[in-house]
Parts: sequence; structure tokens; C-alpha cells
Amino acid sequence: MPQQNHKQALQDPIFKVLSEAAEQLGVESYVIGGFVRDYLLKRGIPKDIDIVAVGSGIELAKVVASKFPGDPKISIFKNFGTAMIKHGDIELEFVGARKESYDRNSRKPFVEDGTLQEDQERRDFTINALALSLNKSNFGDLLDPFNGISDLKNKIIKTPLAPDITYSDDPLRMMRAIRFASQLEFTIELKSLLAITENKERINIVSKERIVEELHKILASKEPSIGFSLLHKTGLLQYILPELTALEGIEEIEGQRHKDNFWHTLEVVDNIAKTTDDLWLRWAALLHDIGKAPTKRFHKKIGWTFHGHEFVGSKMVYKLFRRLRMPLNDKMKFVQKMVLMSSRPIVLSEDFVTDSAVRRLVFDAGDQVDDLMTLCEADITTKNPKKQKQYKNNFKLVRQKIIEVEERDHIRNFQPPISGEEIMKTFNLQPSKEIGIIKAAIKEAILEGEIPNEYGAAKSYMLKKGAELGLVSQ
Ligand code: CTP
Repeated sequence: MPQQNHKQALQDPIFKVLSEAAEQLGVESYVIGGFVRDYLLKRGIPKDIDIVAVGSGIELAKVVASKFPGDPKISIFKNFGTAMIKHGDIELEFVGARKESYDRNSRKPFVEDGTLQEDQERRDFTINALALSLNKSNFGDLLDPFNGISDLKNKIIKTPLAPDITYSDDPLRMMRAIRFASQLEFTIELKSLLAITENKERINIVSKERIVEELHKILASKEPSIGFSLLHKTGLLQYILPELTALEGIEEIEGQRHKDNFWHTLEVVDNIAKTTDDLWLRWAALLHDIGKAPTKRFHKKIGWTFHGHEFVGSKMVYKLFRRLRMPLNDKMKFVQKMVLMSSRPIVLSEDFVTDSAVRRLVFDAGDQVDDLMTLCEADITTKNPKKQKQYKNNFKLVRQKIIEVEERDHIRNFQPPISGEEIMKTFNLQPSKEIGIIKAAIKEAILEGEIPNEYGAAKSYMLKKGAELGLVSQ
């Protein structure tokens, strides 16, 4: 039975067109899924609209397209019985109501025509099975046979059918449940959580691209640790990102302990989510310590060490991106660079901050120095208030010095003030190692603050260095 009317969700003239087209074709049609959910959650009016027709979705799409000006293109996916139309910035997705069951070894459904209710029960969650009628007789009525509306109110993720059926039908839904929990800050019903734990292995039949899409959405949420701790709790994380689960645990030898780097990592990710929406910087926070598992050692005198974990970690980033079929492009290089440099500002902030150390940091980090600072500030998770304050103050000082040093010396994207060619000309040299030596010496002198980053000063320094090497200027 319809419970509520939500005509106001369907004010866009598109819905009138849809309603008329369905009537003309003699089929019932409904808006379903994310559109209804997000509208009821007041997350704004979504641009993706899923339409279900009790009949052929493809035929309905054809009639709808013929009613839009300019006869927009329809993309038809015959195997899935779906069609898509782009209308301005709106994407309409059409499907026929179906009862379906899935092949156990792939995500491909066998499709059979069904009623609206059969279609709703085959959907992933009760909150995604809500439908609004587009039919003239009850336009705007909410059809909610599985109490999705009360689950929305109580912030619960539940499956319409027994969870074991819903998840084994399509194991991607395990990731979706956790993504929605993280994104909407909902709780997954216990039965569902247990079913995910039982079915975790089946994540192996889901394509890497779909998994990554969900990981991106978890990372983009306000508190990504909600999603990652659920991935961990259900055992899915071990299949997806074993590099992270390898960081879990605290070991103690001779009274010396190290921190739990898995839970620390999740804190860092939550911290960074407060200051940046940049997805790749959030990825860098997630992966910044992955080199710690393979580099962990215990030494009697100094305790636990993770020597070179930044370098090892940055190499692991490449393998991880490749395994998950993520782009091996500048985004990956950015994450690698952040991981590689992730301890640099921390070392600085623990000590007295010298100009030359700041110049070297800016030289190595280039344009990414601000992102690196953001990552390192998020990395402060000490529970000792005195230390917390000290690190934060030092970071402020480092940021201030970065600005000062940059104004004075322009180290970002450093270009040598004296070219190799000029050195060759000055000392009448053929290509030789002396040129490299002089160039490196000039760069070092600038970074150390011995000379300013200016042509005149660099030229005098070149002449001095040349003389020391026994070269004669022309
Ligand atoms: N759906 C499903 N099982 C899946 C994927 C989707 O049952 N594995 C159903 C749900 O009813 C969902 C609808 O298809 O609401 C549309 O899916 P999609 O567009 O992928 O997601 P949305 O729920 O719209 O949410 P978002 O846009 O945030 O991904």
C-alpha cells in the first residue's frame, strides 16, 4: 500500500514526459533507487535517475527519447535489458522490472520479467528499493514494501531478502553496504554484517574497477575510518588491501612496544579528511605507512625500527595500483612521492628548524610541498597533549619558513641560475665531469644558504669553484 506522496520530488518536467511515455506505451513506470533515497535524505536532487518499467525498459526509453527535442541518442545494453539517455546534465537509466538470479561464478544475472515488487526485492538494500510512481493514477506515491523509509529514518542498512541471498547474488553489494555505511553514516544490520563476513571470499569475482570505485567513495566520506574498519571487521580488507591489514598489531619485546600502525593509519585518514577533499592525498594518507610491515625490525639497544619504510612503501604503491588496475599515471606518482617523503617534515618539526633544512624540503617536494605538509600534520596522532602541541607549533613554524624561504630564494621548481653551457664557455671546457661538479656545488651553496639564488652571486661562486678545481676562466 502506498504510504506517502512525494510529488514535489518529481517537479522537473522530465517526469511528466516519462509519465506520458509510459502511459502511451501502456506500461507502469517508477523512479527507483538512489534518486528516491537521496531525495528523502535531503542530499539534493540527484542527476542520475533510475526508471523501472513493468514491461520493456528499452521500449520505454525509445518513446521517451522521441518526446525530447533533438531526438537524443539512446545507449542500449540488450544483454542487460537496459537503456540510457542523456538529457542535458541528467542521465536516465531504464530497466524492465525483473526477477533475477545470478550465476554463482560471475556477476551476470539471468533475467526474467517480474512485477515491481519482485524487482524491488532483488535490489541491494531496503533504502535503495524505494520507488515513486510515475503513473497518472497515483503519481508521486511512495511504494515501500520493505520498510525502507523506516530504515532511512533509523539509519540502518538492511537487505530486502535474507542477506545471504542478496550478497551471494552480487558480491559487489558487500562493498556497497560498507560504502553506504561510511558515506551516509548508517549502521549495517548485524545479520547483514555476518553474511558479508561469510561471503567475503566471493569478492574475488568482482572486477577490480568496481572495487576501486567503492574504495574511492569510502575515502571520500567524512570519516573514512568507518568504512575501513568495517572492511577490516568483515575480513574483506585482507582480500583487497592486504598491505594494510599487515600493519595491524602491537608487538612487545623486552618491554618495548611499537604503535599499532593499522589503527594509526585510519586515524591519519580521518584527520586528513578534515582538511582536504583531494582523493589522491587521502590515498597517500591511507598508504603512507605500508612500508612499515616489511621493514619492521627489533634491535636490543634501540628497540623497534622501520628503516627505509618510506622508500619501500613508495615501491609498494606501484604494485598495489597495478594489482587494483588503478591508473599508473601522475596520480600514482603523486601518491608515491607523498609516501616517499612522508617523514621529512616530521623530522624537521622534532628539531630546531633551520632555513637550509626547509630549503631542501621545498627543493625536493616542489609544488607538492603544501600537500606534504597537510599529510604530515594529519600524521600527528600522539595522545600526549604536550607533544601534540609541540609538533603542531613546529609545523606552523615550518609552514611560515616555507613561505619566507620561497619569497627569498624561489626554490620551488628550482632552475639552476647558471647553465652547464655557461660553465663550459667560461672555462673553455668540453663536456666533462667538472661541469656537473660545479653545477652541484652551486645548487648546494644555494640550498645551504651560503649564496642567494641569483645570477650574480652564482657566477662569482662558479668562478671560485672553478679556480679551486684548477680551471682557468676565459
Ligand atoms: N543496485 C543493486 N545492486 C547493485 C547495484 C545497484 O540492487 N549491485 C540497485 C539499487 O537499487 C540502486 C540502483 O540499482 O539504488 C542504482 O544503482 P547505482 O546507480 O549504482 O547506485 P545508487 O544507489 O544510485 O547510488 P550511487 O549513485 O551513490 O552509487
